[in-house]
Amino acid sequence: MKVLVIGAGAREHAIVRSLVADPSVDAVVAAPGNPGIGLVARCEPLDDVTDGAAALAIARHHEVDLVVIGPEVPLVAGMADVLRDGGFDVFGPSADAARLEGSKAFAKQVMSAAEVPTGLAHLCTTLDEVTDSMDALGTPYVIKDDGLAAGKGVVVTEDREAGVAHAAACLAKDGGQVVVEEFLDGPEVSLFVLSDGVNVLPLSPAQDFKRVGDDDAGPNTGGMGAYSPLDWAPAHLTDDLVSRVAQPTVDEMRRRGTPFVGVLFIGLALTSRGPRVIEFNARFGDPETQVVLARLRTPLGQLLRAAATGRLDEYDALRWSDEHAVTVVVAAHNYPGTPRTGDRVDGLDDVEGVPTAYVLHAGTALDAEGALVSSGGRVLSVVATGADLREARERAYAAVGHVELEGSHHRGDIALRASRGEVTVG
Ligand code: AMP
Ligand code: GLY
Repeated sequence: MKVLVIGAGAREHAIVRSLVADPSVDAVVAAPGNPGIGLVARCEPLDDVTDGAAALAIARHHEVDLVVIGPEVPLVAGMADVLRDGGFDVFGPSADAARLEGSKAFAKQVMSAAEVPTGLAHLCTTLDEVTDSMDALGTPYVIKDDGLAAGKGVVVTEDREAGVAHAAACLAKDGGQVVVEEFLDGPEVSLFVLSDGVNVLPLSPAQDFKRVGDDDAGPNTGGMGAYSPLDWAPAHLTDDLVSRVAQPTVDEMRRRGTPFVGVLFIGLALTSRGPRVIEFNARFGDPETQVVLARLRTPLGQLLRAAATGRLDEYDALRWSDEHAVTVVVAAHNYPGTPRTGDRVDGLDDVEGVPTAYVLHAGTALDAEGALVSSGGRVLSVVATGADLREARERAYAAVGHVELEGSHHRGDIALRASRGEVTVG
């Protein structure tokens, strides 16, 4: 089969890498892709990643059998609908189903109807409502932009003024709404669950590192690193989340006439009172995908096509490597603020000398001379596997050590506490 992948990040690079390794996949086209993806697949220009008509034209030109949509922005904008109307099999939800990610208020309504455990939350449209909710729910304050914000819409703070200022900025947007939520304590887990609209199939859980600095210091980012699997997680966590969260949510979406086809990304906290959903996303997570797919042994193309065509019940369970995987994100100077771009990226060939390690591209571009330069906030995602987390970490950091990018920064503590057995559930 021939597969078109929409997107340009390290998540899409990881997806393309796994698709290329699937014997039933003859060719992969990416739009727009990136220079790293371009080494293993054909890249087609897509200036506006929400442009459904342009994606449809590429799918037709290459006569693809499956389209995989990576990022949330085209999903929320309805790209899957345009491609399905054009006769293509698509892995990725319709605009109606992608509202699970596009609106936190909508996600809360669905969770409530499906009796999914989640934090207490208030939807606010005025600053008075925000401050009343902050008083009612107490500190730390959790203030969320209702709409899409590239992982940066949430502020968790003890500082009342900072919380109010964030809420004011969100409300100032056209149609802006704010969700004020109770603080959820405990380690966070990301679980991806594939859905064909009816059946669900979980992947292996991962943990993401959202804050920019070591020891979770500084502001939230899109994600600075991840590891999988989670040896510390309760034995029945995945089964429990499928039966209490994923299946009821997929059932509720189908009942509403908006079936969810694609991957439901469940972000949750394991609190002392049990798991609580923090958010739903309607796509694979970045950088969690990089570590989850590093371990998946079931051919990805066949799997995603089964999900896209209502045949997920053909799978009992997935096959996984016994290894542990770690990814470390190399970010540009000043990320998550406005990143500096145009810096030379060197040393990637040297990464090949580190066992199991490889580099996935995110914010990279080729300059006029054909040299690799930074073009976004998260520039690279460096991945390695090992017999245990300690070995996977050592390799990932050895590989990061070869990357040369002026002004770049990365976290030094990805998977560190887990590798020492220090992560515990309340
Ligand atoms: P979200 O965009 O909803 O995933 O939130 C981004 C990050 O903010 C999460 O991964 C958490 O680290 C943090 N966060 C969000 N909601 C809460 C909450 N209710 N309690 C504690 N931390 C939260
Ligand atoms: N890593 C979190 C996300 O993709 O939203």
